[in-house]
Amino acid sequence: MFESKNKYYGRKKGKSFIRLEHLQSRLKLPTKSIFDKIHSPRVLEIGIGDGEKISEDAKKQNNINFIGCDIFADGVLRAIRNSLDNNLKNLLVFHLNIQDILPFVPDNYFQGIRVYFPDPWPKARHKKRRTFNYELVETLTNKLEKNGFIHFATDNSDYFLKALILMKQFNYQLTNITPDSWKYNEFNALNTKFEKKALDKNHKLFYFSVRKNY
Ligand SMILES: C[S@@+](CC[C@H](N)C(=O)[O-])C[C@H]1O[C@@H](n2cnc3c(N)ncnc32)[C@H](O)[C@@H]1O
Repeated sequence: MFESKNKYYGRKKGKSFIRLEHLQSRLKLPTKSIFDKIHSPRVLEIGIGDGEKISEDAKKQNNINFIGCDIFADGVLRAIRNSLDNNLKNLLVFHLNIQDILPFVPDNYFQGIRVYFPDPWPKARHKKRRTFNYELVETLTNKLEKNGFIHFATDNSDYFLKALILMKQFNYQLTNITPDSWKYNEFNALNTKFEKKALDKNHKLFYFSVRKNY
């Protein structure tokens, strides 16, 4: 197992780890040459959680190369298992903090970046632990191609507003704005584990999609 140099406070293993740990030998470390070999279009997902959403999307959209990461081992190993079971050639996942991967990624590389239900750290004293912060967005902006998108979802209104403010600071343009575009609806629904959890708790859900047109 690779240990991240960057500090992370969330859960690192779950109940399914024992069933999946034999797949650890399949884990890869990021290198410049790994990224050079992956063809465009390339979509990054930060915090793949249980690994099911990225696996499903890789299965359905085999013209897109999906690259995902998480510090939570079970989901990364599950995505590897899904990839082997379905012979997916367009899915690469890292058991690492996103910050440990980006130094190996060329600039203007991704056509899209997805951040679905990042840990909200709702307490005021914990907000600095949030992953989607100024430093990360600054780096991501360099790694995102012109016209690339960032797609963000959360059930924390404060995180949503802070993320939108960051998008404005970096001159992203909102796409598809309608009175309903922020809300959970059939077009926004992602069917991730944390979206389902938030719906079960009757939380309000918030979504945005922005484009970097420079
Ligand atoms: C609340 S879960 C959401 C998971 C999934 N996206 C979903 O919607 O079900 C947030 C995930 O982000 C991961 N995560 C948090 N910070 C991260 C970071 N810096 N790099 C990679 N993954 C991170 C956590 O380990 C966790 O699995």
